[in-house]
Amino acid sequence: MYLQTFQNQNPSTINETLKLRDELMKSGLILELSEKLKATQIKEEKVEFGQKLQGLKADLIKTSDDWIKDLQLKAEKNEKIDYFDPTFVSKTTKLQPKRIHPVTQVIDELVAIYKQMGFTVADGPLVETQWYNFTALNIPGYHPARGMQDTFFLDEIDENGENLVLRTQTSDVQIRYMENHKPPIRIIVPGIVYRNEDIDATHDMQFHQMEGLVVDKNISVANLKFFLEQTFKKFFMDENVQIRLRPSYFPFVSPGYEVDIQCPFCHGDGCRVCKTTGWIECVGTGLVHPNVLKNCGIDPNEYQGLAFGFGVDRLAQMKLGISGLSQFYNSNLSFLEG
Ligand code: DAH
Repeated sequence: MYLQTFQNQNPSTINETLKLRDELMKSGLILELSEKLKATQIKEEKVEFGQKLQGLKADLIKTSDDWIKDLQLKAEKNEKIDYFDPTFVSKTTKLQPKRIHPVTQVIDELVAIYKQMGFTVADGPLVETQWYNFTALNIPGYHPARGMQDTFFLDEIDENGENLVLRTQTSDVQIRYMENHKPPIRIIVPGIVYRNEDIDATHDMQFHQMEGLVVDKNISVANLKFFLEQTFKKFFMDENVQIRLRPSYFPFVSPGYEVDIQCPFCHGDGCRVCKTTGWIECVGTGLVHPNVLKNCGIDPNEYQGLAFGFGVDRLAQMKLGISGLSQFYNSNLSFLEG
């Protein structure tokens, strides 16, 4: 029934459409019926007017929503339409509270934990040069470690004649930061990274990492263990969380370790989450390789560094009990609102 009104008035922007809807909500038949509804004491009439009113409102909302969809379609097809004004607030559109994205929630929690330990947050670009993503991190061109991270190479070439890449790790920001700051340094770097991976429940082609870097005098593995222990005790709100370091290899640290945390669900007994091992592998870490410090103009005889990096999405999955990683990125509103 309202379609006729919309066709006659022919609103040509989303704002005009919403204004018309606001007007119609308070006038004409809707106004008439709401007044009748208020006035009557007869139960049958109340029901009748109430139902009619609901029907009219539903029709008005559907007609205006369809009209807006149509405008958007036209705009997408590049017909010249001013279809969106972010400052306009419709009185008849309900604002629905949404929750913060689970990954953002977890990043916020981690940032708060690290701030308590004196860290500040640093950031870097997602499109990166091979120098920052690899070479300066002690991963030269011929190094097999370049192949370990399935890199997305872009067509664009940088000033060294190398293809730009989508950064595969937040470790690039270690270099960018050390180039511009003198020790003592204590930073964390939350951010998105990209890998050309097959997608399954625990892998995606984009995910979030949290990198940590501390550069100071007399830094040792004991400091590193302390920071990581504190991180997971606070994150899982459990003073008994244990971690263990296993020797491992990353070109930009020496010695390098992989860190497992004792499964916070079964406390080491073995369960579905930790695949019965009692431990969950989640961090790469080590003492910053002297070559990396040198690449940034820091004297390794005077200063040492510790660095760590871990995936945030899997931690979010674990803490919030979310089954598939893909849910984080597939725009499923009921998941995001949930
Ligand atoms: N960048 C590594 C990766 O993406 C993780 C990592 C390992 C970060 C060791 C570090 C580190 O800072 O010291 O696999």
